[in-house]
Formats: sequence, structure tokens, C-alpha cells
Amino acid sequence: MNHFTYKNNELYCEDLPVAEIARQVGTPFFLYSEATLSRHFRIFDQGFAGLPHLTCFAVKACSNIAILNLFARQGGGADIVSGGELFRARTAGIPPDRTIYSGVGKTAAEMRAALQAGILLFNVESAQELDRLHQVAGELKTTAPVAFRVNPDVDPLTHPYISTGFAKNKFGIPVEEALQEYIRAKSMPGIEIRGVSCHIGSQLTRIDPFIEALRKLKDFIGRLEREGITIDYLDLGGGVGITYDEELPPHPHDYARAVMDELGDMNYTLILEPGRVITGNAGIMVTEVQYTKVNTGGQEDKRFVIIDAGMNDLIRPSLYEAYHEIKTIVKKEDHDKGEIVDVVGPICESGDFMARERLLPRVRQGDLLAVMSAGAYGFTMSSNYNSRPRAAEVMVRGDRFEIIRSRESYEDLIRGESLMELD
Ligand code: LLP
Repeated sequence: MNHFTYKNNELYCEDLPVAEIARQVGTPFFLYSEATLSRHFRIFDQGFAGLPHLTCFAVKACSNIAILNLFARQGGGADIVSGGELFRARTAGIPPDRTIYSGVGKTAAEMRAALQAGILLFNVESAQELDRLHQVAGELKTTAPVAFRVNPDVDPLTHPYISTGFAKNKFGIPVEEALQEYIRAKSMPGIEIRGVSCHIGSQLTRIDPFIEALRKLKDFIGRLEREGITIDYLDLGGGVGITYDEELPPHPHDYARAVMDELGDMNYTLILEPGRVITGNAGIMVTEVQYTKVNTGGQEDKRFVIIDAGMNDLIRPSLYEAYHEIKTIVKKEDHDKGEIVDVVGPICESGDFMARERLLPRVRQGDLLAVMSAGAYGFTMSSNYNSRPRAAEVMVRGDRFEIIRSRESYEDLIRGESLMELD
């Protein structure tokens, strides 16, 4: 459930007409509903109530500090993958002891910052990373709390670009090798073994791949115990999918129930790293139609709706051919049968589209459109390509809104750049 609904044929975010916000902020912009964000976090987190657990929001999905702060206030932690995300999480008030650090390419400087901050866990993804972390911890005269990201080699049944738990993916360490790494880590004075982790992919619409991965992890933890290695944390990663179109992902409570049933009695804390399921449907992108045109001359006439948001603002359709529902801000009239159009952006690439061959109500220049389900991997994947300032981010609470990130200016575009002094 989310708070983007039509009232009197007009799209609202909570109690505010989206058009009114657009009038004040300009387009394009990302619009989040605070009530939806809070609700999604709460529902996910409460699914695991009764079990020692920590919900570490995957910062990469939506990293605005106002949003991270919302989760921090609800007891949430952060799953980070860079020094930049560590900085954001800390600025947003997420305590370091609720922060875990994933990712295959941590630099020594990033490790140092995370160790100095006192994070809860490093999810280590290779033997060389372990060696480097050990060295950095030694230099700082501290110990690094570690879990290995084990690759359980299961099929998440999702898009190949966002599957991560296969043996062929770059992520994690295969089970056999991981056992050797745990044994090696045990002898390292600067390393403290705290957990086991995995993440098998994103936008999963079925529960069984999670359970298969969990079974393999439980089995692995048993093998660790036989080596005299015990853990405090089991990190199951993120990946629960959402409805973009007609997908029927599991309700977070069904997911939680299945995980808890499979876990049974355990004496460690469960860590979860949800991203998309929390913010995906809590945000939309609002854009204005600039032009419509019909290109004739091919076998069929081709209708284009050209909007003021491009692949630099929301790259998911271009990159993954992802489906995002597009709604008109003013609800279509019953007699409007609509037309099949390509909704495209202003970027100079044929791959710059929000939707292809999509049936939309007839739209005109100046109409506002909402690109739905843009709250995860939307703004965070945006860029300045074609020297386009990044869009504003806006949060609604009830009948009020606040700009939580200003639209970039042209000055922002060249910040840090300079002419050659040698000339
Ligand atoms: N934990 C780890 C280690 C991850 O790599 C990810 C996502 C998550 C948690 C959060 O997964 P989620 O709950 O959001 O599925 N840009 C792509 C998605 C890439 C996901 C990368 N890793 C997209 O727009 O679909």
C-alpha cells in the first residue's frame, strides 16, 4: 500500500495534490511519501519481531539523508557499500553499531574510515580483502568485526543484471573457499569473526530462493561450528521484490515467517538488508510533457511523448528495460481510449526512454506525468549526463512538503572543475 492515490481525478501524495508541488518546485523531481516510507519500514521490521534482528536499509537504493534519518528513528541500521554511503549514514544519524559494510571493492581508506567509525560488521568478499582489512586494522591497533559473504549458488529467478548469488557472479566467496577463509581469519589477531552473510539478488518475487540460500548457510554454520568457529550474526541480505507491473512478490510478513520457520531456534542475531521493498513504491518521479510528435515514414506511424526527464534522471528503463507505470496527474477521462506511444527523454541516445509501446491516455504539451515506483534506484542512479542538473527530491508529510534535496544548478555542474592554469 502506498499514499499515491487519485482524489477527484487528481493524483495526490498523501494530502497534497502532486500538481501543486510541481507548480512550486518545477519538474522533474522525485517525490516521496513519508507515511509510505515509514509504513514500509515498520511492516518489514515488525515481521521479524520476536527474533533478535537488525534491519539495515540498503543505502544504495535511496540515500537521501532525510530518508535515512527516518529509518534511523525507527531503529533501523544501514547497509553501506562505500565511504560515501558511510558518510551519508552517519550524517543521517544511523549509529555505527547498526552499520554494516558490503561490497567487493573496499579501499584501504574506506576500511580505515569504517573502522574508526566503529561499524558493526564488514562483509568480506575475498581473501585479498581479508588480508587488507587485517593490515588496516593492525595499523589502527584495533580489530575488525567480520562476516564473509558466502555465495550460496542459488538461482534467484530475477533479471540477470541483478542476480548476485550464482557462482558465476563476482559477489561473495564460494562455500568451500569460505570455510578455508574462516579458518585463516580465526588465526588473525586483527580480525574478529562475527557472522556469515549472503545476498542472492534483487527484485525476487518468490520466497523459495531465499529459503534455499538460508538452508545452505545453516549447513555452512554447522561446518564452522565443527571447526570451533561460532557466530553472532546471520545476514540474509536484501532482495525482496515489489510490484512494478503485475508481479506478485511475497508480502514482507510471509517472507519473514518463512525465514523464521526455517531458522527455528537460533542463538544469533538476524540481519536483513532490504532496499527496494522499503522505498521502491514510496517514491515517484514527476515530469512534464515538453512535446508530442508523430514520426511518419516507417511501416507505421510512431508516436512520441517527449518529457523533461531522461535516462540521466531514471536509468532503470534504459539499463534493464525495466517497466515503470506511467500515470497522468489528471486522471484520464472515461471516453479516452488512449494511444500507443514511446515516452522518451531529452538525452541524445536512442536508448533514452521511460516506456516503449505504452498505452497512455492522450497527453498534451504541458501535461504532468508520474513515473511510478521510482523510489528505489531512481535518484541514486541518476547522473549529470548531457550536463543536466540532477532533479530535486521532495518529501511529503500529510498536507505539507519539504525539499530534501534542491535541484542542482549549472554552478553545481562544474563544481570542482577549472580551466588549465598552464595555458
Ligand atoms: N544487500 C546487498 C549486498 C546488495 O547488493 C543489495 C542490492 C541489497 C542489499 C539491496 O537489495 P534490494 O532489497 O534493494 O533488492 N540497480 C538495480 C538493483 C541493484 C541491486 C544491487 N544490490 C535496479 O535498479 O533494479
